[in-house]
Amino acid sequence: METKINLLKEKLNQELKNINDSKSLYSLQSSYLGKTGEISLMMRELGKVDKEERPKLGQIINQLKEWAISKFFNASQTIKLNELLSRYKNEEIDVTLPAKSQKYGSLHPITLVTNELLDIFTGLGFYVYEGPEIENDYYCFTALNLPKDHPARDMQDTFYLSEDLLLRVQTSAGQIRAMEQNKPPLKVVVPGRVYRIDDLDSTHSPMFHQMEGLVIDKHVTLCDLKGVLEILAKKMFGEESKTRLRPSFFPFTEPSVEVDVTCCGCGGKGCKICKNTGWIEVLGAGMVHPNVIKNAGLDPEIYSGFAFGVGLERIAILKYGIKDLKWLYENDVRFLSQFKI
Ligand code: DAH
Repeated sequence: METKINLLKEKLNQELKNINDSKSLYSLQSSYLGKTGEISLMMRELGKVDKEERPKLGQIINQLKEWAISKFFNASQTIKLNELLSRYKNEEIDVTLPAKSQKYGSLHPITLVTNELLDIFTGLGFYVYEGPEIENDYYCFTALNLPKDHPARDMQDTFYLSEDLLLRVQTSAGQIRAMEQNKPPLKVVVPGRVYRIDDLDSTHSPMFHQMEGLVIDKHVTLCDLKGVLEILAKKMFGEESKTRLRPSFFPFTEPSVEVDVTCCGCGGKGCKICKNTGWIEVLGAGMVHPNVIKNAGLDPEIYSGFAFGVGLERIAILKYGIKDLKWLYENDVRFLSQFKI
């Protein structure tokens, strides 16, 4: 029996030496300690042995079993560790490799201009109101003092959705709504999309963006308007920028002006951008017409105000030197990615 046990131990030691993965170790373990394994079979054969010898032999086989269990346990510890180490090696990460570059999006130039203007005006105490893009004739035209036969109301210029509903042609439509919702003193800007029937080319688009400004209070004068516009020009185009007002006409303002700023291309000396005048037109403005104030339910004898409307595409084109309006709508990432901040 002793020789048998020694031979078995030797065989097990030998076989263990050739094992270096958990799976083969497990099957080797089964062949010794499993139900039909060699050691388990030895246990079973104990029944055939003489009664007197049985306890002693049983003890010997039990010791062999304990020995085998600890052998397999130790081997499995070493194998598991080796397997872990080799997994670490395979999955090793070279932290010195350059990182893959992440592609970040950028804000659209119109969004940049909108944000910048909103920053300036909210800094001056204006609040932001966004009126509906689908407007009715009253807010877009009638309440703004546009006579029934005004060309801007023409079917060829305006997208009508029904007899009364239309896509707003100007953010000025927000003026009356803002005045109806809030009592003066009132300082509001209305940013948003506007629509006019036009084919898309390098200077026209059927959809573009405007920002309307409106101030209503007692004793508001043209000087206040000029003051606000000067701040706007300096913040938007640089501290050296100057503004100039030229007489103009809009049905909803009286007097009406067109506002020029010194050309950002040449600083006022004259260049291609400003057609050698040194000035660039940036917006329309004026003192709110008494009829408009009346239409909002206010007394024009008590309240006065100024309004202005600025085209955001125009500001973006001037500020960033964009040569073709179409680039703003094509969403070509090669163009857009230049506006990273
Ligand atoms: N609504 C005008 C337009 O779309 C712009 C404008 C001009 C707005 C004068 C005003 C203003 O508030 O006073 O061309």
